[in-house]
Amino acid sequence: MSSPPDVILLDRGNNTTCSVNLHGATIVSWRVNNQEQLFVSKQAVFDGKKAIRGGVPFIFPQFGAWHLGPQHGFARTSTWTLESPPERLESGDVEAMFSLTDSEHTRSMWNFPFRVFYRLILREKELHFNVSVSNTGHESFAFTLLLHTYFKVPDVRRCQIGGLKGCTYVDKVQNGLVFREDRDAVAVGEFTDRVYQDTPPEQIISNVVSGRKMRVMKYNLPDTVVWNPWLENAQAMGDFGDEEYPNMICVEAGRVASPVHLPSGTVFEASQILQVHYCV
Ligand code: BG6
Repeated sequence: MSSPPDVILLDRGNNTTCSVNLHGATIVSWRVNNQEQLFVSKQAVFDGKKAIRGGVPFIFPQFGAWHLGPQHGFARTSTWTLESPPERLESGDVEAMFSLTDSEHTRSMWNFPFRVFYRLILREKELHFNVSVSNTGHESFAFTLLLHTYFKVPDVRRCQIGGLKGCTYVDKVQNGLVFREDRDAVAVGEFTDRVYQDTPPEQIISNVVSGRKMRVMKYNLPDTVVWNPWLENAQAMGDFGDEEYPNMICVEAGRVASPVHLPSGTVFEASQILQVHYCV
């Protein structure tokens, strides 16, 4: 039997840390001054097989249902390689790099050679995510990609998400009907599963831990998924506690509304920065 994958710790000092499980390169904890920013379900399964329920799973090469393989693709259930171990930079920040390369397993679902590099930088109040996908084969391929971030919140009903006004969204709760967001601040008070398209490069979520604000900044990730399963769907998930839904909100930056078509020998790059705001 193989041993369970390692968890890699980025430690910036001052109780500011980030833990990454090599299973899916899932960020399972991000603490700023000892305060956890990410939600991980108490029922999450760490068996090295199932996707981890919470933190930041890496979704690639498919967001959503997939006729070639598991929902949300194989990256979140693959064992990633620690490409460069955590290293302190001159600035005091800490960075580490992870990678995922095609294997017999990935090619059995999706027959393309690729290489994903995932570089994380832990700063004082920020976490930087830098993603690159290389097409190392001889033909082009198409994929979608998303950082499925579960933010920890005291009560989702008190959160508001700014930076989505005017955007078109596909409402998966309403059979994929398309609407236009007319609110300055989006509140979540029921089962919500929306794919906002062509969103601005910045969203701000209010009332995350300690009533603070979380700023989400993104580059080359044009879409934003907002998801909370609410009670009815929480109950249906074996790896999510029935009473946990008020304590999380997923605001997920990705490239999902239309796939990236990546020609042979080229590279797709994207990034996200999460920033905790200290002034409420
Ligand atoms: C969201 C999707 O990103 O992830 C939802 O929009 C989905 O439709 C949710 O239910 C969770 O997916 P999973 O596969 O982790 O249960």
